[in-house]
Amino acid sequence: MKKVILTGDRPTGKLHLGHYVGSLENRVRLQDEYQQYIMIADIQALTDNFETPEKITTNVHEVVLDYLSIGINPLKSTIFIQSQVPELSELTIYYLNLVTLGRLERNPTVKNEILQKGYDSSIPAGFFCYPVSQAADITAFKADAVPVGEDQIPMIEQANEIVRKFNRIYKTNCLKEAKVILSKNPRLVGIDGQCKASKSLANAIYLSDSAEEIKRKVSLMYTDPKHLRISDPGTVEGNVVFTYLDAFHTNKEEIEALKAHYRKGGLGDSVIKELLTDRLQTMLAPIRDKRNSFKSEEIVDILITGTRAARDVAKNTLEEVRQSIGFRYFC
Ligand code: TRP
Repeated sequence: MKKVILTGDRPTGKLHLGHYVGSLENRVRLQDEYQQYIMIADIQALTDNFETPEKITTNVHEVVLDYLSIGINPLKSTIFIQSQVPELSELTIYYLNLVTLGRLERNPTVKNEILQKGYDSSIPAGFFCYPVSQAADITAFKADAVPVGEDQIPMIEQANEIVRKFNRIYKTNCLKEAKVILSKNPRLVGIDGQCKASKSLANAIYLSDSAEEIKRKVSLMYTDPKHLRISDPGTVEGNVVFTYLDAFHTNKEEIEALKAHYRKGGLGDSVIKELLTDRLQTMLAPIRDKRNSFKSEEIVDILITGTRAARDVAKNTLEEVRQSIGFRYFC
């Protein structure tokens, strides 16, 4: 039997190149080796967007299109919607008893997000507790492993603590601890070079961007502000064009030669930007074409089939969990 992995995305926008290097590329590879569940985390997305649910609901189809267009195969991977598997919410309620507020407060991922969002003392409880709901996602499918970026490691640790506590208190081994499959790629910076690529900062190149949009974004990319004349020596470190060339260009030798030339002076930004634009156009054109080849009904079918399959698995786990607690009144 194949080992099980579970991953997910909050559907608050279309997916961009940061997602591509961080997780999507991995998922295409992993779907052959593992039984892969991919969850569209609309409930989790709601924890910090509850006042604007349309931001989530309008993006669910877009995210599925992004998945399909980069080669996630619904016959190999089970794509499902979190809110349509209510068993996950019941599991969350049981797990909430097994964590303390202090422990949640120390979760570095949540801590960071609270700072970023400026919640201060008015943190919505749902947001504060989302690691518990994430533990439910992971354990419901008895995931052997969770492929994530570094920032998500505390989530898996917290989930595993819940698993150990549950199994100890209710004298069972029905829940399974999950390992981390760490994404090897570093986080991709945004075109401004300031932070990671993200929708909220409007600094990302989307998988679905048009050819004109790609060209425009590359032209805006941060390079080296001291590289004023072509003949000036330039800096490669922190130069977003080179960061992207490293991430996406296939000919490493050519890039190293260009870096040397740029450092020495005599290589203009327009040349490296054109090279990057060409590379991204070559890479994204077939993805965009594939994206446009799916009909809306196909997406609905994929989601119905995936969600049904996911629900069957989560139901079984929930049944075991209820049995372990002793909630079996009618049999
Ligand atoms: N927290 C993840 C994110 O922000 C999404 C997510 C929800 C997830 N549940 C998960 C990832 C379970 C892995 C496993 O992108």
